[in-house]
Amino acid sequence: MLGNFTYCNPTRVHFGQDALDKLGGELANYGSKVLLTYGGGSIKRSGLYDQIVAILQDCGKQVFEMPGVMPNPTVEKLYEGCKVAREQNVDLILAVGGGSVCDYAKAVSVSAWCEEDPWEKYYLRMEEVDNPIIPVGCVLTMVGTGSEMNGGSVITNHTQKRKIGHVFGSNVMPRFTILNPTYTYTVPMRQMVAGIYDAFNHICEQYFSGTDDNTTDYIAEGLMKSLVHSSREALADPHNYEARSNIMWAATWALNTLLAMGKTTDWEVHMIGQSIGAYTDATHGMTLSAVSLAYYRFIMPYGLAKFARFATNVWGIDPAGKTEKELAEAGLDAMEAWMKELGVAMNIRELGVTEDMIEGIADGTFLMTGGYKVLTREDVIAILRASL
Ligand code: NZQ
Ligand code: ZN
Repeated sequence: MLGNFTYCNPTRVHFGQDALDKLGGELANYGSKVLLTYGGGSIKRSGLYDQIVAILQDCGKQVFEMPGVMPNPTVEKLYEGCKVAREQNVDLILAVGGGSVCDYAKAVSVSAWCEEDPWEKYYLRMEEVDNPIIPVGCVLTMVGTGSEMNGGSVITNHTQKRKIGHVFGSNVMPRFTILNPTYTYTVPMRQMVAGIYDAFNHICEQYFSGTDDNTTDYIAEGLMKSLVHSSREALADPHNYEARSNIMWAATWALNTLLAMGKTTDWEVHMIGQSIGAYTDATHGMTLSAVSLAYYRFIMPYGLAKFARFATNVWGIDPAGKTEKELAEAGLDAMEAWMKELGVAMNIRELGVTEDMIEGIADGTFLMTGGYKVLTREDVIAILRASL
């Protein structure tokens, strides 16, 4: 049964090959000072940087830059961005890049005017925002996280070996997002498949929870089927616009708050993956793929009916002649075969995890209560060992 909810997603999305034409109109809604933030240089190589700077100049904006946002943005980088945003009193933060840059922009947005240490306030204590928020706009270049249309912001503290996400409210979500699938053509294959698996797992995290008849689960199955189909097309031809645009849109819907409405969710794979990220700085999607099979096989007996449904409705497996358990196992086998087709990480050793890190990673893993089995620390250790 659907629970009570209030649904609002305030992010205006401009989608398609001409989406950047809408940027000027969006910029008109904000003051003159823009903090342009981006990653390690892909947007300069692709020419997108020059296009965006030209639009900003045409709109009479004064541009301040915060380049060099790394994958898995760090708390030190957050402090650096806050300093510029505050000193220049910027009116808008424009993020151009992948999930890391979008997450980073949101972190700076809530932290620039925060009187306390934002790492402690927002990430360790998970407090609400009670200071001015700088609006954020995004131009997405790498697909997977859903950050372009949600309030999530994940920051890594290497000193403390913690990677933590805060899901902020609708007042922090990007005010607008430019989604042009052709920008993703230059994403390296390894990043592309990591992003696809990330999006797929976002759906799994919301699907593998609850036993009620829930509209979300039907939407989730459609999104998963679309992603699997389009991923195969994109693997064969990365410049297939139809495939790349479907992947982009499905990934946005995978984590733009809609699926979670009125429904319990899990997120344990992400909790384990983030803790692995804190130890290894590995690519986010790969930290998920590397533990997923061990995790889902571990919890499968506790949510057998949903795993059997997953096998039939997502992977098209014929239930005839199979017990529920055999059907459920066949679904996960099909998922495993697809993951191998994609070429995502299938174990945590290849991400740099060593035996001596296991206990620390387990200690850094939040234990969630919405999945089919509430894990213990020992369960997490067993899943990590099975993923080595
Ligand atoms: O830095 P540049 O040079 O731009 O290169 C990036 C980066 O090296 C490159 N890239 C991006 N667009 C490109 C491109 N290279 C060539 N052409 C392009 N068009 O790709 C690399 C990875 O980028 P990144 O932004 O790190 O990837 P992703 O989008 O996967 O973001 C990962 C971060 O998002 C967080 C993750 O934990 C991680 O920190 N997440 C955010 C979520 C949210 N907001 O809800 C949810 C997710 O579960 C996730 O936790
Ligand atoms: Zn994710």
